[in-house]
Amino acid sequence: MSAAGGAGVALVTGANRGIGKEVARQLGARGYDVLVTARDGAQAAAVAQELAGGAGRSSNAGGGTFTPVTLDVASPQSIAAASEQVHANPGRLDVLVNNAGIGSDFGVSGTDPDFDAIQRALDTNFFGAYRVTIALLDLLRASEHPRIVNVSSGMGGVAEMGGWSPGYRVSKASMNAMTRILATELKDARFLVNSACPGFVNTDMGGPMGATKSVQDGAAGIVWLATLPDDGPTGGFFRDGKPVSF
Ligand SMILES: NC(=O)c1ccc[n+]([C@@H]2O[C@H](COP(=O)([O-])OP(=O)(O)OC[C@H]3O[C@@H](n4cnc5c(N)ncnc54)[C@H](OP(=O)(O)O)[C@@H]3O)[C@@H](O)[C@H]2O)c1
Repeated sequence: MSAAGGAGVALVTGANRGIGKEVARQLGARGYDVLVTARDGAQAAAVAQELAGGAGRSSNAGGGTFTPVTLDVASPQSIAAASEQVHANPGRLDVLVNNAGIGSDFGVSGTDPDFDAIQRALDTNFFGAYRVTIALLDLLRASEHPRIVNVSSGMGGVAEMGGWSPGYRVSKASMNAMTRILATELKDARFLVNSACPGFVNTDMGGPMGATKSVQDGAAGIVWLATLPDDGPTGGFFRDGKPVSF
C-alpha cells in the first residue's frame, strides 16, 4: 500500500541544491506537494519554479506541486516563521525530510577540536532538525501516514565510529539518537521515523572529497523511507534501503 496515495504534502529542508533538491524533485514526481525550503528565500523560489518546469507553472509532470518556503534550520526565529507559514497554508504535512546539513570540521582531529565548528555542526545538523520536527509535529500527528526521514551519515554511526571530524560525527550520532527517541515515542501514533545515510554523494559537500555517487542514487534511499508503506520499519538507520549500524 502506498503511503499517501500520491496526495501527500512533503517538506524538505535544504532543498535548494544537492541531495535535498533531488529528494524534492523525486517526491514531486511521485505526486507529492513539496514545500521546497531553503535559508535563502530567493533560492527556494527559483528551485521551486525550476522543479515545476519553468516560469508560471507550479506542478510537474508527476502532478506534484512545488511551493517555496524560507527556512534557516539554525535559526529558531526562522523555524517559527516557516512553521507559521506551513500551518496557514497548506495546513497539512505528511512527510518531513530533515536534509539540511553542514560539514564544519571535516578532517579536523578529535584531539585538536574546533569547538566553534562543533557548535555550528550541532546547531544545524542536530538542533536544527530536532527543532523543525517539533515545530511541525502537530501537523504530522494529523496525517494518516506520518513519515520523518533524518538525513544522517555513516560517519555518525557509533558502532563503527572512526576518528576526525568530531563535530560532524557527533551531530549525526545525536540526530540518530533523536530518530530512535521519536520513533519509540511516536510508534503508537502511526509514525515511521528513520535515519538515512545517502552514501558518498557527488554534491558540493561530497564532491570535493572525491564522491562519485549520483544525487539521484543518493536521494533514492531517502525517498524510499519518506514513502514507506504503513507496515514499513521505524527507528532504523538505512543506506540504499539496507540497514546500517547505529
Ligand atoms: N554528500 C555526501 O556524501 C553525504 C554523505 C552523508 C550524508 N550527507 C548528508 O546529506 C545532506 C545533504 O548533503 P549534500 O551532500 O546535499 O550537501 P550540500 O550540497 O552541501 O547541500 C547542503 C544543503 O543544506 C543546506 N543548509 C545548510 N545549512 C542550512 C541551514 N542552516 N538552514 C537551511 N539549510 C541549510 C544548504 O543550503 P545553502 O545553499 O543555503 O548552504 C544546502 O541546501 C546533509 O545533511 C549531509 O550531511 C551527505
